[in-house]
Amino acid sequence: MSTLKAVRGTRDLLPPETELWNRIEATARSVFARYNFGEIRTPLFEDTTLFARGVGEETDIVSKEMYTWEDRARAQSEKTQSLTLRPENTAGVVRAYIEHQLGESGQLQKLYYIGPQFRRERPQKGRYRQFSQIGAEVIGPPSAGSESPLRDAEVLEMLATLLDELGISGWTLHLNSVGSAADRARYNDALRAALVPVASQLCPDCQRRAVVNPLRVLDCKVPADQPVIETLPVIADSLDPASRAHFAAVLAALDAAGVPYTRNHRLVRGLDYYTRTTFEFTHGGLGAQNALLGGGRYDGLSEAIGGTHAPGIGFAIGEDRLVLTLLANLDRMAAPPLVDAYIAPLGESVNAAALALARDLRHQGLRIELGDGSFRLKKSFVAGNKSARHIVILGEDELATSILTVKDFSSGVQTKVPRAELPEWLARPDRS
Ligand code: HAM
Repeated sequence: MSTLKAVRGTRDLLPPETELWNRIEATARSVFARYNFGEIRTPLFEDTTLFARGVGEETDIVSKEMYTWEDRARAQSEKTQSLTLRPENTAGVVRAYIEHQLGESGQLQKLYYIGPQFRRERPQKGRYRQFSQIGAEVIGPPSAGSESPLRDAEVLEMLATLLDELGISGWTLHLNSVGSAADRARYNDALRAALVPVASQLCPDCQRRAVVNPLRVLDCKVPADQPVIETLPVIADSLDPASRAHFAAVLAALDAAGVPYTRNHRLVRGLDYYTRTTFEFTHGGLGAQNALLGGGRYDGLSEAIGGTHAPGIGFAIGEDRLVLTLLANLDRMAAPPLVDAYIAPLGESVNAAALALARDLRHQGLRIELGDGSFRLKKSFVAGNKSARHIVILGEDELATSILTVKDFSSGVQTKVPRAELPEWLARPDRS
C-alpha cells in the first residue's frame, strides 16, 4: 500500500519550528493590543458569492485558485450551496461587519485575525496551497474617520513596529495609490491606448493582458518586457485632486513618523477591491515570492457585498514567509529547553505512584517528563539526560521512606532529597 502524505502544497509544522510560529503570533497579538485592535475569527469557508463579489470575478484568485465545491443538500428543504475555502480574510471580515451591524456603534472597528487561507497556486518556496496570514482591518462609517489618511499611515507605522519587534531587518515598504474607481477606469483607458503600438514587443501573456486587463501588464516579471513597461503611463498621472491630496497626506504622516518607504508606480495588487493606498512590504531574502505582506484601502468593498458605505484599510502578512525570513537569519533553531526533571519509576509496580508524583510537581509549575517502569535504569538515564536537568528515581524504597534519589545532570551529583523538599530542589537553577 502506498504511504499517505500531506497533500501537495500543504505541510506539517513540527517542533521546534512551531515555537517560532507561536513567538511570532504572541508578538503580533502584543503589538495589536497596544494599537487597540480586537481579534475576529471568521469561518474557514464561506458562500462562494462573497469572494466572487468581494475579491472580484476576474482576479486570478477567484478565476483560478479557489477551492470551491457544491455542498449537497442534507434535507429536501435544503438547497445545494456553492461554498469556498477562504482564499483571504478581508471579504469575510467585511461580511461579518455587515452581518453584525458593527457600523451601528458609530466607532471604527479595528479587528485582527491569524489563521489559514487556501489558494490553488503552483507550490514553490514561500508559496503554499494552505498558508497562514496575520492580518488586520480598520473599517467604519466615514463619520468615524475611516477615510482619513491618518488611518493609512497608522496601519503602516504599526506594521513597521511589528516587523522591527519580530527582528526582521532589511524590509522595504512599496507604496502606491490606485485612486478611486473612476481614476482607475481613466488609467485603464490610458494604459490600453499606450499598449496598442507596443504590445507586439511583449510576451504572449502580456499581449493577452493588454486587451483583457491592461493593469496586470504592470505585474509582468519577464526581463525582456521591462524596458517597454517602464515607458507606459503611471497611475499617479490619472488620479483626481482628492486622491492626490489623500496620498500626499499619507506620505506626509509617514515622513513625520520616520517610516521609510519607496513609491512604486507599478504596485496595483491582484485583488479588485482596492482604492487609493496600496502597499507591500518585501524582503530580499525571500527569492521570487518576496512579498512578506500586502494590503491597502477598500472604500467600496462593503457596498460591493451589500452593506452600507464603510471605507476601510488593512493588510495581511504571509506568516509562512515571516518564518522563512526569520529562519534564514538563525544558524539553527535553538534546542528546546530542558525540562526540570525526568521521573524514572523503578519497575511497573511504581508507575501509578510516578504519575501521582508527576501530577503534583506539574501542578506546582515544574516541567516534567515521565518515564516508564518497564525501562531499564540505564535507558531511563539516557532518556533523562537528553530531555531534563535532573532525574528523579522512584522505587519501592523511595516510596516507603519518602526520600527520593535525584541526580543533577549538569554537576553529575546524586543526592537524597526528602519528598517535601523536591519541588524547591528541582526548581533551583543549575548547580554546575
Ligand atoms: P495578498 O497580497 O493576496 O492580500 O496576500 C497577503 C500576503 O499573504 C502576501 O503578501 C503573502 O505574504 C501571503 N500569501 C499570499 N498567497 C500565499 C501563498 N500561496 N503561500 C504563502 N503565502 C501567501 C490579501 O490577502 C489581502 N486580504 C490583504 C488585505 C487585507 N488587504 C486589505 N486588507
